[in-house]
Amino acid sequence: MKERVKLKDGSEVTLRFLTTEDTDKLYEFFLHNIKEEDLLLFKDNVRDYNLIRSWCENINLNRTVPIVAETPKGNIIGVGTLHLRNHGWARKVGKIRVSICAWCRGKGLGKAIVEKLVDIAKERRLIAIIAEVVSPQEVALSTLRKEGFEEQAVIENISRDHKGNPLHLHIFVKYLV
Ligand SMILES: CC(C)(COP(=O)(O)OP(=O)(O)OC[C@H]1O[C@@H](n2cnc3c(N)ncnc32)[C@H](O)[C@@H]1OP(=O)(O)O)[C@@H](O)C(=O)NCCC(=O)NCCS
Repeated sequence: MKERVKLKDGSEVTLRFLTTEDTDKLYEFFLHNIKEEDLLLFKDNVRDYNLIRSWCENINLNRTVPIVAETPKGNIIGVGTLHLRNHGWARKVGKIRVSICAWCRGKGLGKAIVEKLVDIAKERRLIAIIAEVVSPQEVALSTLRKEGFEEQAVIENISRDHKGNPLHLHIFVKYLV
């Protein structure tokens, strides 16, 4: 998969699958393109080089479909993943995660990546896709709503940010059939 996408500011990026060669580029993305305060949105330490290397070197498309948005200069400015399970009820349910460079937001890239992940989920014949958003993330909430995801649950006070403020978990679902 290699697709060119034109963003709202006229610039172009390529959407493609992550490859085993991408460790340094993906590490750079998490090091320089994510703000410190947004690190708490990730469930893993994405600034751990060895972790990023293990992600790139152990790609298993039956479990995780990772796509990246790359500029013509070869910099990764957005990532998205579709997480899959192979057994039981969950084999029909995917989970997506999307993260866009803090300085490249509002240009339509998040939307393009979500749409690509939805297409891949349809090709895999999934019944539903789940997206979890930790509030306050108004842009994430509106991106998902615009892409046809419905908020099915909010789990309030599920955690705290670094200042001790409460965080709520919003669970969105998009049905594909
Ligand atoms: C959520 C996220 C992926 C959106 O990426 P993005 O590239 O900025 O989003 P887009 O430019 O495609 O905008 C999508 C929609 O969000 C809304 N939006 C974008 N920027 C906005 C802003 N500054 N203020 C209000 N709404 C905004 C608009 O409704 C827009 O739709 P439109 O272009 O049709 O008007 C990005 O903000 C991000 O990485 N957030 C942190 C990670 C996260 O929360 N991920 C959860 C998603 S699974």
